[in-house]
Amino acid sequence: MNVYDSRLIHTLFVRHGFQPVDNENDADILVVNSCSVRKKAEQKALDYAKGWRNKGKFVVFIGCVAVEHKDKLIDQGVADLVLGHRAYGRLPELIEKGVGVVEMDSDELLEFTALPLDRPAYSFSEFVTIMEGCDNFCSYCIVPFTRGREAYRPAEHILEEIKNLEKQGVIEVTLLGQNINSYFDGQRDFSELLEYLAQNVSLYRLRFTTLNPRDVSVKMLKVIQNHLDVLTDWLHLPVQAGSTKVLRDMRRGYTKEEFIEMAHTVRKFLPEAVITTDIMVGFPTETESDFEDTLDLVRKVEFDHAFMFIYSPRPRTKASYWNDLPYEVKNARLRKLIDTVNEVARKRRERMLGKIYEVLVEGPSRKDPTRSAARTRGYLTVVLDRFLPPGERVKVKVVGIKGLTPLAKVLD
Ligand code: 5AD
Ligand code: SF4
Repeated sequence: MNVYDSRLIHTLFVRHGFQPVDNENDADILVVNSCSVRKKAEQKALDYAKGWRNKGKFVVFIGCVAVEHKDKLIDQGVADLVLGHRAYGRLPELIEKGVGVVEMDSDELLEFTALPLDRPAYSFSEFVTIMEGCDNFCSYCIVPFTRGREAYRPAEHILEEIKNLEKQGVIEVTLLGQNINSYFDGQRDFSELLEYLAQNVSLYRLRFTTLNPRDVSVKMLKVIQNHLDVLTDWLHLPVQAGSTKVLRDMRRGYTKEEFIEMAHTVRKFLPEAVITTDIMVGFPTETESDFEDTLDLVRKVEFDHAFMFIYSPRPRTKASYWNDLPYEVKNARLRKLIDTVNEVARKRRERMLGKIYEVLVEGPSRKDPTRSAARTRGYLTVVLDRFLPPGERVKVKVVGIKGLTPLAKVLD
């Protein structure tokens, strides 16, 4: 979402006559877009901004850390201008005015509808934000405090933005929202939005993330099933933990058993589905046996991939008032979790051996630039046996697995 926001800001600056530069040294103004989901990310953004401001740059600080610290960022010499998410549309005009803290809580929908729908494409694959904010207040999460209450863009705007991207050669779009399946623009819910878009876009692939496991519906699975020509069967379903007690303390709204059943329902409707997740270890009330439940759930669901984190207490959240576990405990659990996830992911990859996939070439492989990395419909990366131009679509056969990466032969 920050990538999307940064591109939007880039567009607005260019339209106001500013010129982008490749190197920070050549810039008069630096815009620092920040994330506060974990302490480490926050510190990184603060250090970066402070470093450049000390060198005399005019620093605009935006993103979740901006909302969290507001005027403190000016007092502490981190930034010259601090801006909330929903004031981004006014950024270039505010720069002319100078220093200050601006617009932390503005009229959400108004700001959304003020966004330019005809922005330039940066790549053949683009993000489109369809909603902002989150109303869930999971007990560990700072996002509802920083991004604010949920606000949804009208479906017609989303379609228009996609149409404009298509005209510029974009073939893949990923719809974004913190809690995307709670979308409702007054007329269409998320399933209906997917149906509407699937019928009206001419993209190669239309993705979306992040789903809230609590709100996965059969209605949505059926829409995906009926439109697998354009919609993708990649479902990012952040589970966070496997113990029903911890899930309750986290305020996630589902039990261990409900999550496992939901994942099985997904695979019943979409047998080729790739299921990915986010998992946190070391939540304050997590005991060793709760953690075992997480490992058990990972084995039962067989995730294709997981992003794994050590719990980090965030200001203003409910969980930050509870005792934080020792770092060594959290770290040991993370290591164990990584091993278990790798084990099941490896099993999932082995099922790909000998199968044929249509993939979209992304760019050179990180480890060997003479070969290309490409994505399956399920968003898994495969490494090809040759280099092909990014954006190309080809049929490939998986002939080997290295670590967790499938190696594929391009079929002529
Ligand atoms: N500590 C660690 N990880 C967190 N996440 C959210 N809040 C925290 C926190 N306080 C993780 C969740 C979420 C992902 C984006 O970041 O797993 O899904
Ligand atoms: Fe945070 Fe929970 Fe909302 Fe996700 S659903 S953004 S974890 S509060």
